[in-house]
Amino acid sequence: MRTHPIEIAPSILSADLANLAADVRKVESAGAAVIHFDVMDGHFVPNITMGIPVLASLRKATSLPIDAHLMIERPGEYVEAFAQAGADRILVHQEATAHLDRVLAQIRDLKAEAGVVINPATPVATLVEVLDRVDTVLVMSVNPGFGGQSFIPGSLNKIRELKQMRQRYNGHYRIEVDGGVEPENIGQLVQAGADTLVAGTSVFHTPDPAAAVRRLQSLAQDSLTQKV
Ligand code: DX5
Ligand code: ZN
Repeated sequence: MRTHPIEIAPSILSADLANLAADVRKVESAGAAVIHFDVMDGHFVPNITMGIPVLASLRKATSLPIDAHLMIERPGEYVEAFAQAGADRILVHQEATAHLDRVLAQIRDLKAEAGVVINPATPVATLVEVLDRVDTVLVMSVNPGFGGQSFIPGSLNKIRELKQMRQRYNGHYRIEVDGGVEPENIGQLVQAGADTLVAGTSVFHTPDPAAAVRRLQSLAQDSLTQKV
């Protein structure tokens, strides 16, 4: 049984950052459910992107929930600033902190939704102790750091496992997938159990980002009525 609605979450990493508000309006009007905001620190991942001031500006440009995906070391030191800047959902990597339980509690105390992310080489079993108190589990389907990479097929099994574990571990989390999501694989991902589908390149590196969101949404919905 599906416990969460399907959400398309355009990743603004691939947007025109000098025209961010305009790009966000396009995907908002097309029915995007969430704006995915990638934060990289040049340590946890080999790239640097945007941070707190950009998030605060983005907050004024959209009423959609903002998903702050923190690809940073020592996330606990920054979650408060991200919550204050307007992140509705804050997602931290399991690999980035030795104190995952504490950081997730910090996020909840800030009245934001708390999510945990795992890299392609991290098994879902590492999350069993927190599955009953996270709002999102995000499966990285590429190695984090860059947009435009190819989907890693093994991620499908992790999504299936997380779907099975939701009941067993008394969870209520959404299953989110990030990296290489495109029209060719979105149906399979939804059938495997993904609820929230992050898409950067396949939305913003197209001539019509609004049409790209509508297409991803309709392919995702269609796959729900098809037999696996
Ligand atoms: C990658 C980021 C992703 C990225 C996805 O490290 O976390 O959110 O924007 O980009 P695509 O959809 O192009 O793979
Ligand atoms: Zn991301």
